[in-house]
Amino acid sequence: MIFVTGATGTIGRALLAELGSEAVGVVRQAGRASASVVADFDRPESFAGLFSPGDRLFLNSSLWPGFVAGHQAVIDLAAEAGVAQIVTVSVRGAAPGQPLGGGLHGLVDQHLRASGVPWAILQPTGFMQNFAADLDGDGVFHGSYGEARMNYIDARDIASCARALLTRPVGASGDHVLTGPESRTHAEFAAVLSAATGRPIRYADLPVPEMGARLAARGLPYVLAEYMASFADDRWAPLAGTVKDLTGREPRTLAAYAEEFLTPVP
Ligand SMILES: NC(=O)c1ccc[n+]([C@@H]2O[C@H](COP(=O)([O-])OP(=O)(O)OC[C@H]3O[C@@H](n4cnc5c(N)ncnc54)[C@H](OP(=O)(O)O)[C@@H]3O)[C@@H](O)[C@H]2O)c1
Repeated sequence: MIFVTGATGTIGRALLAELGSEAVGVVRQAGRASASVVADFDRPESFAGLFSPGDRLFLNSSLWPGFVAGHQAVIDLAAEAGVAQIVTVSVRGAAPGQPLGGGLHGLVDQHLRASGVPWAILQPTGFMQNFAADLDGDGVFHGSYGEARMNYIDARDIASCARALLTRPVGASGDHVLTGPESRTHAEFAAVLSAATGRPIRYADLPVPEMGARLAARGLPYVLAEYMASFADDRWAPLAGTVKDLTGREPRTLAAYAEEFLTPVP
C-alpha cells in the first residue's frame, strides 16, 4: 500500500487523485479524504502499527514548530516496520542551518538519508500556487526579490513526480531538484500573469524592512523578506529537466496555471 501524508494539502490531494485505489490518505481528522486513516505528526505514536513491510510512504506536511521531530519519528517508525521506500517533499537547497524551511527540511532529509529506508527527496522551487495567496485585490503582489531570476513549479507536477517514484520499482535513492519550465524576474512573471488572465497584475518590489513589516502583519516571519532578497544570487534560476525525466511530459507553465486558477469566472 502507498500511504500519502498531508493528504488534504495541495500536493497530497493531487497525488491521491493520481494514485486512486493504490493509495490511502493519512489525515488528522477522520473523513477529510476518501480512503483515509487518521494519524498526526504531532503524535507520532498515532502512526504506530500503520505500516507493513513493503509499504511505500509519501512524507509531507506544512511546516510548524514540531515538524522536524514529528517527521523524524515517523521515518523511524517506517524503518522499523520495513517500509520499502519514503518519498518526501523538501525544498531546493535545503540543508541543516539554512534559514526558514530550508533548515527544517535539511534536518529531516539528513535523518531520512541515514534511516536505512530507500528514499527519494523532492527538492522543488517555489509553488505557482503561492501567487493566488499573494495577489491582493488590486492585482499587486509584493516581494524583495529585486531583479533576481526565480523559478516556480506547479505543485501538481510535484505530485506527478511523486507518483512516478512511488509506482515504479524502488530504485537507487536520490535527490530530485524539481523546477517549472521558465525562470524570470518577478516583474516578468507579473507580465505573464497579466497576459494569461487579461487583467493588470503588477509586482511591487519593497526594501527588506518594509516587506518584513508587511509579512509580520500577516503573521509571517520577518526574515522571509531577507530570504527573498538573498535570491539576488540567482541560485534558483537554473532549470532542471526532472519533471520530464520522471513523468515523460514537460512541467506546466505559469501561464497555463494562471488561465486555470487566476482567471475570474465570468
Ligand atoms: N509553498 C512553496 O512555495 C514551497 C516550496 C518548496 C517546498 N515547499 C514545501 O511543501 C510542503 C507543503 O506542501 P503542500 O503545499 O502540499 O502542503 P499544504 O497544502 O500546506 O497542506 C499541508 C498538509 O499538511 C497537513 N499537516 C499539517 N500539520 C500536520 C500534522 N501535525 N500532522 C499531520 N498532517 C499535518 C495538513 O493537514 P490538515 O488539513 O489537517 O491541516 C495538510 O494536509 C512543505 O513541506 C513546504 O516546506 C513549499
